Amino acid sequence: MKDKILVTGAAGFIGFHLAESLLKDNFNVCGIDNINDYYDVKLKNDRIDILKKYSNFNFNQVDISNFESTSNIFKNFQPDKVVNLAAQAGVRYSIDHPFAYLNSNIVGFLNIIELCKTQNIKGLIYASSSSVYGGNKEIPFSVSDRVNKPLSLYAASKRSNELIAYSYSNLFNLHTTGLRFFTVYGPWGRPDMAMYKFANKICSGESIDVYNNGDMKRDFTYIDDIVSGIKSSIDKNYQCEVFNLGNNKSENLMDIVKYIEQYLDKKADINFLPMQPGDVKESWAEIKKSMKMLNYKPKTDVDVGIEKFIDWYKKYNIK
Ligand SMILES: NC(=O)c1ccc[n+]([C@@H]2O[C@H](COP(=O)([O-])OP(=O)(O)OC[C@H]3O[C@@H](n4cnc5c(N)ncnc54)[C@H](O)[C@@H]3O)[C@@H](O)[C@H]2O)c1
Repeated sequence: MKDKILVTGAAGFIGFHLAESLLKDNFNVCGIDNINDYYDVKLKNDRIDILKKYSNFNFNQVDISNFESTSNIFKNFQPDKVVNLAAQAGVRYSIDHPFAYLNSNIVGFLNIIELCKTQNIKGLIYASSSSVYGGNKEIPFSVSDRVNKPLSLYAASKRSNELIAYSYSNLFNLHTTGLRFFTVYGPWGRPDMAMYKFANKICSGESIDVYNNGDMKRDFTYIDDIVSGIKSSIDKNYQCEVFNLGNNKSENLMDIVKYIEQYLDKKADINFLPMQPGDVKESWAEIKKSMKMLNYKPKTDVDVGIEKFIDWYKKYNIK
């Protein structure tokens, strides 16, 4: 019998893709999500409607910061493993909305890990973030680097998840794997992230905001590569590990804008702005440990990945 997997944040970008891939592999998947309105709820509901077509999927609208309702899901579904992707995402939003991060990323995470402990879950895989590297100067970012200077509450909340997981693995022998995702993009992506925002604004003829006068670099990771890294983590189920999941290439933001322009066949009007508080200038993942221990091997270059994103974007948004 295949494992039963609980995926939190299943209506989200990464949760949706992971859940669909697990369903195709005949896992039994329970998805939970509070379907909050941080971005367009229609996109979240459309993703869930696709997942509901699979007979091995069931969905519950639950907030992980509510212990009672989350506990009921664990008791009824009795998962073998849990993938915690539910979180308040976004670096800039955390500057003005601190309590959203406290509730979902800290209280919610503690509820999940505590239930994993009491319900004897075989393994917890959880989303961390490249933002834990803060303003580290040494690049690429390696999991052996010091990460004690987060530049935002979002980054601090993700680092706290790693520390809480470490303590639970040691105290209770709970198997935990933290995954530091690097700027994930692709079809069904997040409208609050740069790539989607750029596409929206270029299409509607509005100018796009580009920070630090365009002098920014990001390691952009295609969604299918992220899903394969998460699935490998579920399979390996290490005792207590943290991995980088990135593409291992740092791309100039202006090159990304050029690809979007090319695939939309429309020029961007660019509004150059200074660096934003909480933001980092460059991200770049060192992935040797992930390659060795997870057989992780990102396959998608940005030119190919952005074309796939824009193909989907056109079908979904421009009817
Ligand atoms: N996308 C990226 O580039 C990226 C990078 C680093 C880390 N991450 C992390 O990966 C995870 C998934 O990210 P995503 O891009 O799919 O984001 P997303 O916002 O699309 O998905 C998160 C989902 O969690 C749900 N959610 C939020 N708070 C909740 C709560 N209290 N209870 C139940 N559901 C709740 C939201 O409604 C949303 O559907 C998050 O933990 C995020 O912080 C993402």
